[in-house]
Amino acid sequence: MRIRGRRHCEFARDAIRVAFKCAQQKHTGLFGQGLQWPSISRQRVETLIGMPQKTLSTGVTAKLLRSAKKVMKNAHAPYSRFRVGAAILLSNGKIFSGCNVENASYGMSNCAERTAIFSAVAQLGPKIEIRAVSVVNDRGVPCSPCGACRQVIYEFGPDATIFFQGAEGPKQAHITELLPEGFRLE
Ligand code: THU
Repeated sequence: MRIRGRRHCEFARDAIRVAFKCAQQKHTGLFGQGLQWPSISRQRVETLIGMPQKTLSTGVTAKLLRSAKKVMKNAHAPYSRFRVGAAILLSNGKIFSGCNVENASYGMSNCAERTAIFSAVAQLGPKIEIRAVSVVNDRGVPCSPCGACRQVIYEFGPDATIFFQGAEGPKQAHITELLPEGFRLE
């Protein structure tokens, strides 16, 4: 079904986005008076209201993970000795990857996730849309994207799914679960 040229699920998605924004900014009366908005991801809401979720096939997920593992070997991590690889899946189906690149001036180091995203923007321009991100490290320890990378992922993928190593094995989370109040200039 189309409403003024847009598919109705896109409309519903936008409605959920606005509802989340209102909740996050505590615009709703009760929630503005100290009550907590229940901790629930947009994906979960979509499941509850029966919207088709954009799920990834296991084949694509495995490919994303393989790309992250492959590029991890190129990491320049002589200071932390912690090699990280990341791969991003774009809505056009393309995959870009990146590793962490450290510097003797530690603060100049770049995380694997941002390397992958900046590489995609350099190749394709800023209109990319990130659907999924995978992150791996060479120690098999928990490693979710850092705060800075979450914000950069959110810029190009407000609906992205992140795959990473959690404390109890591989995890998957929506970007808004990892970054509940992402910054955006509207
Ligand atoms: N690092 C990443 O590349 N991605 C992450 O998600 C977390 C941390 C890098 C930054 C630095 O080079 C090293 O891991 C140790 O913090």
